[in-house]
Amino acid sequence: MAPHAGASLDIPALLGALTLEEKAALLDGADFWRTQSVERLGIPSVTVTDGPHGLRKQAGEADHLALNDSVPATCFPPAAGLASSWDPELLTRIGVALGRECRAAEVAVLLGPGVNMKRSPLCGRNFEYFSEDPLLAGELGAALVDGVQSQGVGTSLKHFAANNQETDRMTVSADVDERTLREIYFPAFERIVTRSQPWTVMCAYNRINGTYASEDPWLLTGVLRDEWGFQGLVVSDWGAVDRRDAGVAAGLDLEMPSSGGAGTRVILDAVHAGTLSEKDVDRAATRVLELLNRALPALRPGQTFDAGAHHALAREAAAASAVLLKNDGILPLARTGGPIAVIGEFARTPRFQGTGSSQVNPTRVDTALDALRDALDGTREVLFAPGFTIPAASPSASTSNSTAASTAASTSTAASTSTSAAASTSTSAGGPSDDASAAVGAGAAGASGGGGDADADAGDPGLIAEAVRAAAGAEVAVVFLGLPPADESEGYDRTHLDLPSHQIALLHAVADANPRVVVVLSNGSVVTVTPWQERAGAVLEGWLLGQAGGTATADLLLGTATPVGRLAETIPVRYEDNPTIGAFPGEHGHVRYGEGLLIGYRWYDAHRLPVAYPFGHGLSYTSFAYDDLAVTVDGRRVRVTLTVTNTGARPGTEVVQVYVTDPEAGVYRPEQELRGFARLTLPPGQSEAVTVTLDDRAFAYWHPTLRRWTVEGGAFGIRVGASSRDIRLETTIELPGDDLTTPLTPEATMDAWLTHPAAGAWLRERLGDVLVEVMFFDPTNGQMMRAIPLRRLSRFPGFPITEPQVEEAAARFS
Ligand code: BGC
Repeated sequence: MAPHAGASLDIPALLGALTLEEKAALLDGADFWRTQSVERLGIPSVTVTDGPHGLRKQAGEADHLALNDSVPATCFPPAAGLASSWDPELLTRIGVALGRECRAAEVAVLLGPGVNMKRSPLCGRNFEYFSEDPLLAGELGAALVDGVQSQGVGTSLKHFAANNQETDRMTVSADVDERTLREIYFPAFERIVTRSQPWTVMCAYNRINGTYASEDPWLLTGVLRDEWGFQGLVVSDWGAVDRRDAGVAAGLDLEMPSSGGAGTRVILDAVHAGTLSEKDVDRAATRVLELLNRALPALRPGQTFDAGAHHALAREAAAASAVLLKNDGILPLARTGGPIAVIGEFARTPRFQGTGSSQVNPTRVDTALDALRDALDGTREVLFAPGFTIPAASPSASTSNSTAASTAASTSTAASTSTSAAASTSTSAGGPSDDASAAVGAGAAGASGGGGDADADAGDPGLIAEAVRAAAGAEVAVVFLGLPPADESEGYDRTHLDLPSHQIALLHAVADANPRVVVVLSNGSVVTVTPWQERAGAVLEGWLLGQAGGTATADLLLGTATPVGRLAETIPVRYEDNPTIGAFPGEHGHVRYGEGLLIGYRWYDAHRLPVAYPFGHGLSYTSFAYDDLAVTVDGRRVRVTLTVTNTGARPGTEVVQVYVTDPEAGVYRPEQELRGFARLTLPPGQSEAVTVTLDDRAFAYWHPTLRRWTVEGGAFGIRVGASSRDIRLETTIELPGDDLTTPLTPEATMDAWLTHPAAGAWLRERLGDVLVEVMFFDPTNGQMMRAIPLRRLSRFPGFPITEPQVEEAAARFS
């Protein structure tokens, strides 16, 4: 039954009119993408669709892994790219565009954004996630949600929570302590829920400390609703339901896709058996009806969107997403001069998005090769040599594969047509739009071990020789390197961080022929650069840049656009340096988050490890100076102000990052944590004042015993920099703290009893000052004695306080 725009459902009346069977049925999908309707009561069904960086509404046979084509939609850069923009305002504009495309396709909810942390650089789905830092992911995710929802279309914040790997994603237990959950894995969700109220939250497939996210009342109700005030509906990830009745009781409202009635039967049986209350069913049904009421006003046929304007926005976003890692001055390229050799198949067959459920069928695709030729329009000759072929997915990865053109991986055949073509004249045969039958890899849900082997396809000496000839005859070589599509996908994790070795061999050969080399990277998750980057004068990390990535890349190379991107994740020197080594992807159904709080830069900082490029790094075509740091403290609200000056010759955008340190903490705290940032664009020579305001959460940690956020009074460091390792200004502030006294129990140590203001006095009175000094402050044994729980001491022969007296005192003083 189709939705009616403007219609509003009378929920209390409907709840009275619906039978238990109908209410239970509402908690199941109608098919892959639609909710159930109840014709007799005029309850329509609505459509939800992936997400997150473009719309993937399937026109024909539905599935959730991009097996079948979807209607054309704008493919914006995936989150790995967008995160590097550090630009919430841009994310909101993209959200608005996505919302409009949803309306045009009559879609009620866009399934995204995904804000899981990049715990390991090997996670196959890192291209879909924003960052290793929860503040950055939360700020950007909230901005995107605001944009989409401003159009009367919902979002689905996913995957809640601790879904940080693809291996065994449907069953693995993420074993992680609460403080780490609260400080690292939850805050992005918390920020978005509390600030932007996504219409839906999607629960993760995995278990957390043994309990499926889909049936965890602490997670779905205690934390999400009771603590954060979530008002919307919780939907399962596609196939995440294990025990449907436990899910309803825990707060999982809607099961997707349709269970074909199996879930409904389990719910009804449980209600009849008295193990599930009908109230729980009513509550979940109410949320489904509320979702319909939110969605109906925008669902009108005949709405359109401006594909040209959205493509232009995708181009702007792509330019903002690329990160200039290094530049010895070779960039930007002049518009006049000798030939430019463009080398690498990615230049004409771009890899601009990842594989799996987020795969969009783009409205069009720009290639960097065409864009450079168009932009230079004969003022500089552009030679091309593919240099290598982009392999199709390995057989193990392609058991249920996509055939969409949208990933734009080239088949070997398409690419190798250039082998015999003269380097100076080869045109873009086999470009993305020609490539509709290219078999590319999409991991099936739960599939594992399909990760591409970087060396699976050997380099082609003929292609390398052709590239060398092109480079030798050119003034500069721009080499497009990157990961083949099968190397990173939903459904399985990567096994290493390296570019294919034949691509590195190509780079060496090209650099031997012409030392003026620029490298442009296409990869959704981090790759090692240390083994080869000294061969390049400049490296532009392009991530996956969406459908307009080609033109945006040309804009950046030619200086039409200035690089503004900053790394949202650290690029380590070596795979072996990463925080999860030895504890990823786990074993026997468990993955231990043994590194605790220390993911990303928190880890590299704690271990004093050199990194290839630090979190927050990114160059511009200009330079910036930081001056006049001033900090004002009002209670625990801290205003950080400074002046930023563009000291170069070109306009540019700087991202000022504010990190907080807590050098005097009574618990372990990471060396520094990002707590705020600001972005500003300045013409050459201009200065501007910047203010970043921090609230008390910026200084708090999750107290494991008190089980709340607490600020420990004392000194905090404020660091302001251009990256986590380029701190330009620094100061210290003093803040008042919370009362951190924990309740006394008989098991508390003597030390805790003695330092407790009231209990300490009582103990000294009972024991006498002399005994206290001799027993507990003796230089040799005192520390050992103070570490003994008072109850145990009370059982020692001759101790002057009895166990019942300890218990009575604990009750009195706690
Ligand atoms: C993914 C979700 C996606 C859903 C629907 C799942 O396999 O984990 O991110 O939204 O499928 O396609």
